[in-house]
Amino acid sequence: MDGSAKQPQSLRDGLLNRLSVPPRLIDGPAPSRADIDDMLAAAVCAPDHGAIRPWRFHVIQGDALRRLGDLFVEALQKREPDAPRETIEKEQNRPLRAPLIIAACAKIDLSRAEKIPAVEQVVAVASACQNILLAAHDKGYGAMLLTGINARDAHVKAAFGLEGPDEIVGFIYMGTPSGPVFEKERPDPAEFTTIW
Ligand SMILES: Cc1cc2nc3c(=O)[nH]c(=O)nc-3n(C[C@H](O)[C@H](O)[C@H](O)COP(=O)(O)O)c2cc1C
Repeated sequence: MDGSAKQPQSLRDGLLNRLSVPPRLIDGPAPSRADIDDMLAAAVCAPDHGAIRPWRFHVIQGDALRRLGDLFVEALQKREPDAPRETIEKEQNRPLRAPLIIAACAKIDLSRAEKIPAVEQVVAVASACQNILLAAHDKGYGAMLLTGINARDAHVKAAFGLEGPDEIVGFIYMGTPSGPVFEKERPDPAEFTTIW
């Protein structure tokens, strides 16, 4: 499928045809400010037990992508003080693979955890991520949710204002698809379903 050409015609169509577009197939232009706002409006419509609103979104573009690369390098050098130059360059350039990254974080409210455990709060943010991915697809953008070691790194988490049980749920890389994205074979839901 050509990610830029096959616009969803309905919610069902969007749900069934959304595909992750890997960073190597993401190019500029970045989504407009209005489109970003629209995707974030979809994000905060996600299911959210107790209306905790655990999501924190960081919209990273332009020069801020380079600053995110600096942060990834700092984190690498704390983990591996003798990291080779190629690895440092890879981390520096990692965020530059797309014109926009939305970092989706979960700020966990432990005072509510008896009724709404941390995992449910993370699920709310994960649901928000899916809404962003679907909204991006609906607008013809290419996007992919990525984590990797940076999402679990204490130095990176602290820079996003996270502590304790808080999580970086993912970095959503986004832009305009630069080429065709090939359809995947999806599993048969019956394999995972028991009818009671
Ligand atoms: C929380 C989460 C983190 C992920 N992190 C990565 C990652 O770091 N690298 C990667 O290649 N895929 C990662 N994925 C998978 C991709 O986002 C994507 O879902 C997968 O490649 C399947 O593609 P599809 O969305 O088109 O089905 C992650 C998925 C989730 C839900």
